[in-house]
Amino acid sequence: ASLRAFVEALPKVELHVHLVGSASVDTVLALAKRHPEAGVPADRQALAEFYEFRDFNHFLKVYWAVQSMLRDRHDIETLVVGLAADLAAQNARYAEVTVTPYNHRLDGMPGDELLTGLATGRARAAAEHGVELAWCFDIPGEKGVEAGRETLVFALRERPDGLVSFGLGGPEVGVGRAQFEPFFTAAREAGLHSVPHAGETTGPATVWSALHDLGAERIGHGTSSAADPALLAYLAEHRVPLEVCPTSNVRTQQVESLAAHPLRRLLDHGVAVTLNTDDPPMFGATLNGEYLAAAEILGLRGVELANLARTAVDVSFLPGQRKAELT
Ligand code: ADE
Ligand code: ZN
Repeated sequence: ASLRAFVEALPKVELHVHLVGSASVDTVLALAKRHPEAGVPADRQALAEFYEFRDFNHFLKVYWAVQSMLRDRHDIETLVVGLAADLAAQNARYAEVTVTPYNHRLDGMPGDELLTGLATGRARAAAEHGVELAWCFDIPGEKGVEAGRETLVFALRERPDGLVSFGLGGPEVGVGRAQFEPFFTAAREAGLHSVPHAGETTGPATVWSALHDLGAERIGHGTSSAADPALLAYLAEHRVPLEVCPTSNVRTQQVESLAAHPLRRLLDHGVAVTLNTDDPPMFGATLNGEYLAAAEILGLRGVELANLARTAVDVSFLPGQRKAELT
């Protein structure tokens, strides 16, 4: 059978995808027609151009523009159910999905509106698509410690069904990880897993800080770890997995090309790597596409792809029983 058929048939899970960034092109076009003031093109060709990112900060501005069009529970439910349909089409029956409550509140959506949309969407994802969704509530790092405090309080007070982890996203440049230490400590004490972004847009020092200051159990991206042999050894020895998103790294201009991506080097050093899409329609990425790229461009063999898929199940925050069912 072809490699594509092999990848498609592989049961996969997605461990790094942002809810806003999972909005389908059709959903974004429909939102853009309703909210012209957001500055998001309502025309397919123009949206494709809008999604050509000059650099990481430009990407974030586009992401925030799309986020600003989400106003109520129905918008959230539409995104959640759409993501579940997309995951099912990739033969992915489980995903951990990052949600940023602080940003939605700033854009005018009350917390209970967000939570209702998440809960309704999650129930429909299971019933209509056979996809189980878990949530990561993350701090938008650029908003500082106040966003950290509010995100923590919201997560622990509401504790919605499916909430498994606590994250940190947004830019890394000028946004030190260590300032968020108290919030991660409290989140971990309350039983949430620590999954900050680190080493996507800055060097290995940020990954070290995520490990030491935030007790990271997995690292969002962590790509720049490849430049630090001691860090690679640490990640391998302590089995801290990286949520690698190759197409995202190319599209935000963090890596020159897929061929230049350090994925192979990470694997060769024994690091537990998972493959993920980050913000799939914005990057033109799919989960199957990430596996295919790993094979065709980075030379991974079929058995290595199957191992990557298994690693993702292993390092997910599913209960052991469910892990066994998914492999
Ligand atoms: N928010 C959405 N996508 C992100 C990414 N790749 N890095 C940091 N924050 C994000
Ligand atoms: Zn991300």
